[in-house]
Amino acid sequence: MDRQLLACIRTFGCQMNERDTETIQGLLAQEGYRFTTDIKEAQLILFNTCCVRENPERKVYGQVEMLRGAKADNPELIIGICGCMPQQKEELTEMLERLTHVDLIFGTHNIHRLPELLHRIKTTGERVVEILDESGEPVEGLPAHRESDFKAWVTVMHGCNNFCSYCIVPYVRGREHSRLPKEILREAKSLADEGIKEITLLGQNVNSYGQDLRLGMDFADLLSELNQVPGIERIRFTTSHPKDISDKLILQLARLEKVCEHLHLPVQAGSDHVLKRMNRGYNREYYLQLVDKVRYHVPDISLTTDIMVGFPGETDADFADTLSLVEEIRYDSAFTFIYSPRKGTPATKMPDQVPEEVKKERIYQLIEVQNKISLELNQRLCGEELEVLVEGTSKHDAHFLSGKTRTAKTVAFPGSQDLVGQLVSVRITEAKTWSLVGEIV
Ligand code: 5AD
Ligand code: SF4
Repeated sequence: MDRQLLACIRTFGCQMNERDTETIQGLLAQEGYRFTTDIKEAQLILFNTCCVRENPERKVYGQVEMLRGAKADNPELIIGICGCMPQQKEELTEMLERLTHVDLIFGTHNIHRLPELLHRIKTTGERVVEILDESGEPVEGLPAHRESDFKAWVTVMHGCNNFCSYCIVPYVRGREHSRLPKEILREAKSLADEGIKEITLLGQNVNSYGQDLRLGMDFADLLSELNQVPGIERIRFTTSHPKDISDKLILQLARLEKVCEHLHLPVQAGSDHVLKRMNRGYNREYYLQLVDKVRYHVPDISLTTDIMVGFPGETDADFADTLSLVEEIRYDSAFTFIYSPRKGTPATKMPDQVPEEVKKERIYQLIEVQNKISLELNQRLCGEELEVLVEGTSKHDAHFLSGKTRTAKTVAFPGSQDLVGQLVSVRITEAKTWSLVGEIV
């Protein structure tokens, strides 16, 4: 009897990569693979990589290096690297030289070719490397293998045109390409038919959705169409670029009942001087006014952000501006990053790179300020009844369920497993920095 083929996929980075992993798994499932998280029992190990910062890149080298012995013991084992790292030419060269035991390397534009590439390895026994430059039109109709039966990601566009001066994404993921509205709607309807209740629309900059299609349809219009899909009860989206949020979108956010009251609005920095050199296309004043406008139309909206410290030339005064912006806005939560120089981006060559100790000191300070605010905002929710989509049992206690509010807050509460996948009403009884505790009403 054939041994069951097992694949283990390690995914790094953003939700776009998580979504790509679902497609990879969908394709592999068609080839007869099942999936494991135990790397030791897998016959195929794939690293879906991220190159936004240096740290996750180093981790990949470390983890792949550790498989050298396993490959020597079992030459049938296939080790692959895909995602954003090999899309950079210099990184690819280094990988090919250093990681000689890797059998397969492919990029973000040729995921659909995976079955063919695997076939080539299995028939020739040779290393297969295929990286395509931009593919133009997104490939449609690929299968997906999801972890959840009730929530799903839906990619609405690929790539980015913004070229923020620190960011590698436009170089590896290429220019913006929107999927056709009819394809997105078809996918949403078929997800609803499968029982999916919550969709999260994905793109590096969803607010510029449709501009490249010239069909006269923008992101706000897309939200209205999706709001009408029966069975879909919640719609989320990420990421929004502040410079591209239209008034029309803010109005739709307020008007469309399925679109959740949560906006992830990366600010990156609070100083005009830094924002300008980041090439973000807005200043502090514009951002603050935008937040005011959003809060005026959607008063209970939860706001989250990405913030970077230690961008080249960031002075103590610039950093103080970031802290004061965080205090002024009062985000529900923030992803905080230490600036990491990326080869080929303009910021790498800027003078006045900030010393590591200073960057670390600043990020600690920033996290402390933000944590205090997160806790205070969560405490204000005590006593409120919130709608929660139950996602599973709590990691810490099997008698507890865990789910998310429309405002993207995690809530733990006692309850039975058969509620998983249901929308329930939960009264909040306790607030923590990153989560809430409650009881079903
Ligand atoms: N260094 C640190 N953080 C970065 N990000 C993007 N590029 C870099 C970089 N070179 C952060 C930004 C972005 C998030 C996804 O990652 O804050 O919004
Ligand atoms: Fe990178 Fe800026 Fe594009 Fe976001 S908007 S992916 S930070 S270039």
